[in-house]
Amino acid sequence: MTLQDRTIFITGSGGVLGSTYVRRMLAEGARVVATDLPGHRAEALQAAHEGNENFRFYELDVGEEDQVTEIFQRVMKDGWEPNVVLNNAAITGEMLMGAGKSFPDFADTTVADFERTLHTNLTGAFMVARQMDRDIVGRYPATLINVASMYALNGAHHPIYDGMPFKNFSAYGITKAGIHGLTVWLAGYWAPRKATVNTIAPGAVFNGHSEEFQRRVGELIMAGRMAQPDEIADAMLFLCSAQSGYVTGQLLNVDGGFSAW
Ligand SMILES: NC(=O)c1ccc[n+]([C@@H]2O[C@H](COP(=O)([O-])OP(=O)(O)OC[C@H]3O[C@@H](n4cnc5c(N)ncnc54)[C@H](O)[C@@H]3O)[C@@H](O)[C@H]2O)c1
Repeated sequence: MTLQDRTIFITGSGGVLGSTYVRRMLAEGARVVATDLPGHRAEALQAAHEGNENFRFYELDVGEEDQVTEIFQRVMKDGWEPNVVLNNAAITGEMLMGAGKSFPDFADTTVADFERTLHTNLTGAFMVARQMDRDIVGRYPATLINVASMYALNGAHHPIYDGMPFKNFSAYGITKAGIHGLTVWLAGYWAPRKATVNTIAPGAVFNGHSEEFQRRVGELIMAGRMAQPDEIADAMLFLCSAQSGYVTGQLLNVDGGFSAW
């Protein structure tokens, strides 16, 4: 598998998985157009790849329509033409925990909180896909990968979060189910223009979790443990490569068997 003919555009690229994808894609010879909100994640990512001629970084808030509308034109004016796009940015439980946010019970969840997640995780993904339609699809073969979760089409196991500093919140799973709707809707719509679109659904990824949380979640997973970020990247690289060219409209679970019990 080679990514040497790939120019890969990623949203939310400074996070746990995004930064792993960037490192692995560069190692496989891809050009990487990394984007994220301004801040410490973006700065760390840029510092890690400074001087690499296959790496470029652009600030992008996927919730800001004006920014999304111009992003591919900006990248193309700078001389690169993305043929792979990853809708990876999301408001996640870990991001909220890192920002010191609390996790209200379902009954206390405000419409504003719900819609904030909806706006980033789904409306943002829609806007990036729509811009890909306008600027990329049909000009040359291209692929879109939407990022869902093990909790997209399976309910969360709420008891494993008892006493934990983070929770699985309703808007998360709901938006992750919705993003696969975007995949199947677009797959047939783009097929005549030689573009494919798939969903990846990562399982529980280890990021310094407590022994107790690892034990609880491990009991739900056939493999008996959380994933390493590189294990999700292995599948992501396949979806980004030319070798996945006959795969479209699919959801690839990379979850150690969680969804197969
Ligand atoms: N880590 C896991 O266990 C796991 C499991 C299943 C699915 N996922 C999914 O994988 C993707 C990456 O997850 P992660 O673990 O790296 O999460 P993370 O919280 O570490 O990273 C998310 C990234 O999205 C960015 N982001 C948030 N709002 C944004 C906005 N409005 N515009 C642009 N960027 C924005 C953040 O700055 C951050 O860099 C997400 O879609 C997540 O839902 C992760």
